[in-house]
Amino acid sequence: MNRLTILSLLSLFLISCNASTGVPSPAVNSDGTVELDPHSELTIPPILDYTIEDGQKIFDLVLQEGEVEFVEGIPSATMGFNGDFLGPTIRVDAGDDVLLNVKNDLDQATTVHWHGLHVPAEMDGTPHQLIGAGETWQSYYPILNEASTMWYHPHAHGTTAQQVTNGLAGLYIIEDENSKSLDIPQTYGVDDIPVIVQDKIFDDGVMSTSIQGGVFYGDTMLTNGTLNAWVQVPAKQVRLRILNGSLARIYSFGFADGREFYQIATDGGLLETPAPMTSLLMATGERAEIVVDLSDGEEAVLMTLDDDRLPGTSGGEYNILRLVPDTGHDLADADPSPLPEVLNVIERWTEDEADVVRPLVLAGGVSEEPDPTDLYIEMDHDDQENAGGRSIPINGKVMDMERIDEVVNLGDIEIWEISNNGAPHPIHIHDIQFLILDRNGIPPEPYESGWKDTVLVNNNETVRVITKFDTYANQEIPYMFHCHILQHEDGGMMGQFIVVDPEAVANGEPSILDHTYALASLPFLPPDFGSNSEPFVCELPAS
Ligand code: C2O
Ligand code: CU
Ligand code: CU
Repeated sequence: MNRLTILSLLSLFLISCNASTGVPSPAVNSDGTVELDPHSELTIPPILDYTIEDGQKIFDLVLQEGEVEFVEGIPSATMGFNGDFLGPTIRVDAGDDVLLNVKNDLDQATTVHWHGLHVPAEMDGTPHQLIGAGETWQSYYPILNEASTMWYHPHAHGTTAQQVTNGLAGLYIIEDENSKSLDIPQTYGVDDIPVIVQDKIFDDGVMSTSIQGGVFYGDTMLTNGTLNAWVQVPAKQVRLRILNGSLARIYSFGFADGREFYQIATDGGLLETPAPMTSLLMATGERAEIVVDLSDGEEAVLMTLDDDRLPGTSGGEYNILRLVPDTGHDLADADPSPLPEVLNVIERWTEDEADVVRPLVLAGGVSEEPDPTDLYIEMDHDDQENAGGRSIPINGKVMDMERIDEVVNLGDIEIWEISNNGAPHPIHIHDIQFLILDRNGIPPEPYESGWKDTVLVNNNETVRVITKFDTYANQEIPYMFHCHILQHEDGGMMGQFIVVDPEAVANGEPSILDHTYALASLPFLPPDFGSNSEPFVCELPAS
């Protein structure tokens, strides 16, 4: 039976509008069922086409301005990749060689970063790799990560929050032999659904792109850019690839009817075994894949729930996505096979294997008293006006593009020990995926026991993560680590690290350790960087 009901002209009269936002609520039929407004059908970002040349998969991305009727008949100004809002899904296989032509058709500079991917710093799309208006940047690298849901977004220093708000973000899916061999839902857009969650503010039906003031919290949810989103799926196990693509909001995802679901993947790969749960905490920048069973034929509404673990600023209950099972679908399966017990093998480093322990102290570190300089504390979106202009340091320093904060030796296993006495900050490290050792000494719960590149560090918490820096070293550009609350990042809650290979340097390979590289060698210069003939003097930490 196809339960899709097309919105009739008559039922238009049943639509009510939220007075201040101008966003219509879904219409309710006389029998109490909720209309499936065709305008609210979930947008599925298309898979990006590629060509193959000399064994390389070539993708073209164009950053452009656009216009979207989030509310039917009311246009909002937006930005997108190859379209009006968000971007196509890049899908590759582990082992592929990729080349991405990134053309900037905006009238402002930008960069594009491949969040979560293990790529050379020079290909990472950091603040050092500005793409001027009208310019094209080429990024090429082999896919060294395992099957995972990554994403891409701008990363120019100071404008990231604004450009992401305007719509610049997309998913980057990696598959591998293991993921393809597993008996899990994997038909993109059918039973394997991308879910990009962003909180927004609407005024009279227009999406506001104003993020002035402090940290941004919206009160209206967009799911893949769709308001009041619903999607029809086969009545069976369905996989959701969730990206928290919001500027700051932390979510506690769960279903309206409290049904159990399984998390199968964290940021950087599949979990070893499916983790059953009824709510899933996700901070900005994080991804998770979940599988929910809809073989009962009942609708399930993915929501963000009230949760004691959320700071007040992130509270509130909002619908994210209505899943409408189609019992007549070919794939519908009244007797679903259980998920495989083994999804992945994760080789874990032990604490004693670590060569280095590296502390990252957020704002004032860990103490009895929350740090008053932390602008995230107790702020809701009414207070945003009062909060601008301050920066939250890491290890006492705010971002300086001309300063290298940490130097890592190639091949080292490192523990990064991140401590925080302010409000929660999701900390993201480029280049690598890490495993969480513990939070205040307690091993991670199953939902964050897999590969991660972003970890929420709560008030008065010390989180220890372990990783290995391999493959890439002696690059001319540093990697970043930062808070993924995008206004914190833009405000300077970010540092830079380089990976050096002492052996190669001894053999005469050029290195950032030479302390200088010609600024003129950077393809596009940040406007405030001064003359491009000045050598870029890279200040290293005292050793
Ligand atoms: Cu998703 Cu450095 O960022
Ligand atoms: Cu990143
Ligand atoms: Cu932060």
